[in-house]
Amino acid sequence: MRRPRRLRKNNSIRSLVRETRLSMKDFVYPIFVVEGEKIKREIKSMPGVYHFSIDKLKEEVEEIVNCGIKSIMIFGVTKDKDWCASSGFKDDGIVQRAIREIKKVNKELVIITDVCMCEYTDHGHCGIIDNNGYVDNDKSLKFLSKIALSHAIAGADMVAPSDMMDGRVRAIRETLDKNGYVNVGIMAYSAKYASNFYGPFREAAESAPSFGDRKTYQMDSSNYKEAMLECEYDIQEGADIIMIKPALSYLDVIKGASEIFDVPLAAYNVSGEYSMLKLAVKKGLLKEDVIYESIMSIKRAGANIIITYFAKDMAKYIDRY
Ligand code: PBG
Repeated sequence: MRRPRRLRKNNSIRSLVRETRLSMKDFVYPIFVVEGEKIKREIKSMPGVYHFSIDKLKEEVEEIVNCGIKSIMIFGVTKDKDWCASSGFKDDGIVQRAIREIKKVNKELVIITDVCMCEYTDHGHCGIIDNNGYVDNDKSLKFLSKIALSHAIAGADMVAPSDMMDGRVRAIRETLDKNGYVNVGIMAYSAKYASNFYGPFREAAESAPSFGDRKTYQMDSSNYKEAMLECEYDIQEGADIIMIKPALSYLDVIKGASEIFDVPLAAYNVSGEYSMLKLAVKKGLLKEDVIYESIMSIKRAGANIIITYFAKDMAKYIDRY
């Protein structure tokens, strides 16, 4: 008789035959940076995730590094908003200052920055709005490139455009190269769906659109083939890493992209995916191990890199040595 249960007899045997393994090196931990001083404030919609002012980053970075996390992604939150997101590309902007502070504290930690306009525009959309309220693709490229370049100048290792404008990867690559930042990488949010799972993040980043939605630029949740096209275009345009976002409702897309493309594949386990599990665990509805199980599903589907607010929680589950 075939007896698959032999290999499930005890934990040592189970761990010997485990097909997929998670490591702290798989994770990118997002951080929200705010204006002000001495601020470490829990984000209401995301229990266990905080807003940090720049002076509090040192402590936080030390904690992150102690957990074994090697990479972070920075998001800036500011009240300084206008039509063209100018606070997103100024030298003393919130993200630019955060990058310099973190590099001062720790040179090894990989800094990836989210490049988008929604945190910095007064209307909360991810690009420039034309007279009809439509997000103008080609006008937005110039501003996105400025944001990316300013992050590179401040010391970012990699920029991650999340706006979903067509042609942004090429525009950003050209701008970085022209200015001598040939070694700053691009992690492209290639297949980013117009998802309801971003709700808690928009509260955290104060980036919800003041009118309409993001469906004219982010992808329709029913489309798989289009996601493969988006990945292909981004690779042609110069993306070093492609990304699928969200992760848990799009595991089929992750699987597909991992089989088709040879560049590293990231998946973003987004705010809504985080908060629903976190709250269910807090309420005692689910065991905490549900976190490990769901992060494992993202890796099993084929993601090489997982951007997750659970990165610190994962330290508990991982044999680091
Ligand atoms: C910015 C951006 C968003 C997220 C990452 N970058 C929000 C959005 O597109 O509305 C979502 C992240 C999350 O939900 O955790 N455009």
